[in-house]
Amino acid sequence: MAAHVDIGRVSFDPNGGKDGGSEPDDVLCNLRLELDSCTIVIMGASGDLARRKLIPALFNLYRTNSLPRRFLIVGCGRSSLDDESFRETMRRAVEEGGMDGSEDWTGFGGRLHYRTIRYDELDSFQALKRDIEALERETGAGGNRVFYLAVPPVLYGPVAGMIGKSGMAQPGDATREWVRLVIEKPFGHDFPTSVDLNKGLTQHFQETQIYRIDHYLAKDTVQNILTFRFANAIFEPLWNRNYIDYVSIVAAETLGVELRAGYYEQAGVVRDMFQNHMMQLLSMVAMEPPSRFEAEFVRDEKVKLFRSLKPFPTDHLDENIILGQYASGSGGATRIPGYREEQGVDAGSLTPTYAMMRVFIDNWRWQGVPFYVCSGKRLAQKLTSIVVHFRKVPHSMFQNRIGDGITPNTLTLGIYPKEGIFLSFQAKMPGSGLCLRPVVMDFSYNRVHSGPKFDAYEKALLDCMLGDQMLFWRQDAVELSWKFLTPILEACELCSEREQTTRLRFYTAGGWGPEVEDKRMMLLG
Ligand code: BG6
Repeated sequence: MAAHVDIGRVSFDPNGGKDGGSEPDDVLCNLRLELDSCTIVIMGASGDLARRKLIPALFNLYRTNSLPRRFLIVGCGRSSLDDESFRETMRRAVEEGGMDGSEDWTGFGGRLHYRTIRYDELDSFQALKRDIEALERETGAGGNRVFYLAVPPVLYGPVAGMIGKSGMAQPGDATREWVRLVIEKPFGHDFPTSVDLNKGLTQHFQETQIYRIDHYLAKDTVQNILTFRFANAIFEPLWNRNYIDYVSIVAAETLGVELRAGYYEQAGVVRDMFQNHMMQLLSMVAMEPPSRFEAEFVRDEKVKLFRSLKPFPTDHLDENIILGQYASGSGGATRIPGYREEQGVDAGSLTPTYAMMRVFIDNWRWQGVPFYVCSGKRLAQKLTSIVVHFRKVPHSMFQNRIGDGITPNTLTLGIYPKEGIFLSFQAKMPGSGLCLRPVVMDFSYNRVHSGPKFDAYEKALLDCMLGDQMLFWRQDAVELSWKFLTPILEACELCSEREQTTRLRFYTAGGWGPEVEDKRMMLLG
């Protein structure tokens, strides 16, 4: 019997809206959209992140009635702006992002304020505190605050420190109010620096106040992995070494480094994609079932999984990792420049823009099952997916008729662009002879969901206001992820230039990465 709990604005329609889009009675929902009043303080508000992502996300939440009734947004930055010019810049940013900045803007824009801040001066933060308190009194926005650090990562520690020293890290009334801090990756450059960063943050903030964003976790298709695995009884019994041959996890991009060479030259693909997103995808597909769907329970299981990662065999590096860098190529009639030709990139750069690694998990469930984790820039297609490759049939009764080539089953968890789940299996083609071919049984989000969708920043901001840390990294997981990857990075980066050059395979932009046997098959899943 279907039960509804706190039904909000959702609409799942298995018939794809063909029967008028009415809500079927088997949808189970728990939407908690009761938000406390709050002030969102954006540090670095005159920068790119605020303009391109944060303000558009907040505006869209406002338009869909998803922000608290009483809220304030206080942008802070080094540039000297007044409220009016900040509002105008943000209205233009929202329009550039494709939204109509006239509709609903008055109600939203009026809640935007701007304060110039000097990040290294305590006086400046103390003045900000007084201003925020005054604004909160005027508007009744209350004492709950989100501090979003949209500043360069080197400023995370210092800015968090100043927020703390000026007395803003703890709520005025701890029994009723809250203060939260949001940061984005990179969470350090390696294991020791991530520990240092955290020491800086935790001088004034507790772990429960720190929200470390990973936008991959905010994707519905990624969250659905847990639902698929643990809200269905039929797949989990197969989800182990007895039935699974290997798993491939791919995040392929068509974009190059764009204008981020300053950061990317220092980071490379392993820090940029693996330390965070790829490790999260791995944990979602491989973790044990949490006993409750609650942030700490889920995050505990991820930590357990990261603890079980088999230390990477750095003495057999080349058998377990492929690194590449894009060389020039073409997209239609246009020439695509190679990485070394990109603005700000060293002409002899050895930074990898592509990596594929073979990872093993040392536990009962996954012993001996390889996980091929792969991500690269300037590949042929933007594609993110996890493909579970099942073992082949133990004995083929069809062998005498059609030989041994029966393709094993695969289950694809499509994250982008095909958002859904696809199970491939063998079917007999109609006709008198024996003719088998793999066919696909598919579920696609687009066909069944017609309700509103939140983008990653909207979802992350909303969860932060709700105080739900499920989709955010906990520090112990960050450290374990670095502990696994730092030896790999060291082995690849601290060797001679000659060894690094030999390891780095150049691939043509617009292709499928370095030409290495079996890789293409894994990439395409
Ligand atoms: C970011 C990386 O975290 O994720 C970028 O810094 C990358 O380099 C991006 O392009 C990919 O995200 P998505 O959601 O487009 O797959």
